[in-house]
Amino acid sequence: MTTTDVIDLVAMGEDFVRDPYPVYAALRERGPVHRVRIPEGAEAWLVVGYEAGRAALADPRLSKRWENAADTFPISSPAAGPHMLNQDPPDHGRLRKLVVREFTPRRIEQLAPRVQEITDELLDAMIAAPEGRADLVEALSFPLPISVICELLGVPTLDRAAFRDWTNTILSGADPELRQAATRETAAYLAELMERKRRDPGQDLMSDLVRTTDEDGDRLSHEELLGTAWLLLVAGHETTVNLISNGVLALLTHPDQLAALRKDMTLMPNAVEEMLRYDGPVETPTFRFTTEPIEIGGTVVPGDGQLVLVAMADANHDPARFPAPDDFDIRRPTGGHVAFGHGIHYCLGAPLARLEARLALTSLLTRFPTLTLDTHPAALTWREGMLIRGPRSLPVRWESGR
Ligand code: HEM
Repeated sequence: MTTTDVIDLVAMGEDFVRDPYPVYAALRERGPVHRVRIPEGAEAWLVVGYEAGRAALADPRLSKRWENAADTFPISSPAAGPHMLNQDPPDHGRLRKLVVREFTPRRIEQLAPRVQEITDELLDAMIAAPEGRADLVEALSFPLPISVICELLGVPTLDRAAFRDWTNTILSGADPELRQAATRETAAYLAELMERKRRDPGQDLMSDLVRTTDEDGDRLSHEELLGTAWLLLVAGHETTVNLISNGVLALLTHPDQLAALRKDMTLMPNAVEEMLRYDGPVETPTFRFTTEPIEIGGTVVPGDGQLVLVAMADANHDPARFPAPDDFDIRRPTGGHVAFGHGIHYCLGAPLARLEARLALTSLLTRFPTLTLDTHPAALTWREGMLIRGPRSLPVRWESGR
């Protein structure tokens, strides 16, 4: 049975934020699409399950353009300008192509020694902590990705604390006015940075994006550059932070899996894929709007700019695709997980995120052989909103030998 009654996910409170998986699974039992109220205050059609979710992610009838949202839609776009993730073909392909030509595998590979160096510095500072205790989010998960994305883009000195506040606010279910204000501040910062790159270009991605032109002479306009820089900064760190945190949490709460990984670190690449599947950083990816009526599992979603949200976290926990989906098993086949999305908007930064997670986790486990959780998992508080999933802080401890 599929329901069109509105299910208020907000009314489920903290329990849903901490552990949304059982709620999605119960909905999946009843059908692939449900009418829900989301933290931002809007109503949405929530798609659950692997097949329906994956199909929706790649459905060309679902638009990523906010201009296609219904007139009555209560939320405004958080973006600083047009970018590939808020455009449909053909503009999507045009914008993605101009970035892809500069965001090369070689450029990512060349970052590996720097990622390792930054990781080592952060772990040096962490290991010096008195009493062998730290908040892993502060010590590693947050500073690593933001340092990497800033180096990649060529951000010389960024006020990281302010930047974290802005992007946290933008991606949370916070008050719309606060989110708009944070977007404006980020955009103003980036506009000034772009101006500096124009005047004084470096070897970085932002300088290359400012001057890049494709074979047909096409280039990014000022607004597109702003939107793209904003997308790369926000998408490039808010997600990876939570891959590291959620991954470490999964390991520390599954000692048998942690022991197996410590014993054989060649399992790391698959362990990272399992972390992405089991408790990935993106719970429901960005908004999609109907441009024509769409039938999903017997329910017709009207075509007048309705918001469709894909419960990607649930797709990765569908037993029809992943047997015993709630088991964290670093050796399981993880192929086909949708933690990086699916279709034309598949994550552009997946190779960078994987590189960072593999290096960070390998170094962390090697240098902290006695690492454990320093709180009960139920005592952790989680990021609000349904887009990004991760703990606000992750207290850990180890035998410091002092
Ligand atoms: C573990 C880390 C990451 C996860 C889980 C993740 C996840 C995702 C997902 C699910 C999408 C698709 C969203 C949708 O269809 O609504 C996406 C798109 C995107 N991601 Fe990531 N991402 C991560 C890291 C990164 C990094 C490090 C970067 C850049 C440096 C990045 C850049 C992008 C871009 C540019 C897009 C838009 C692609 C398009 O529209 O064609 N991501 N990501």
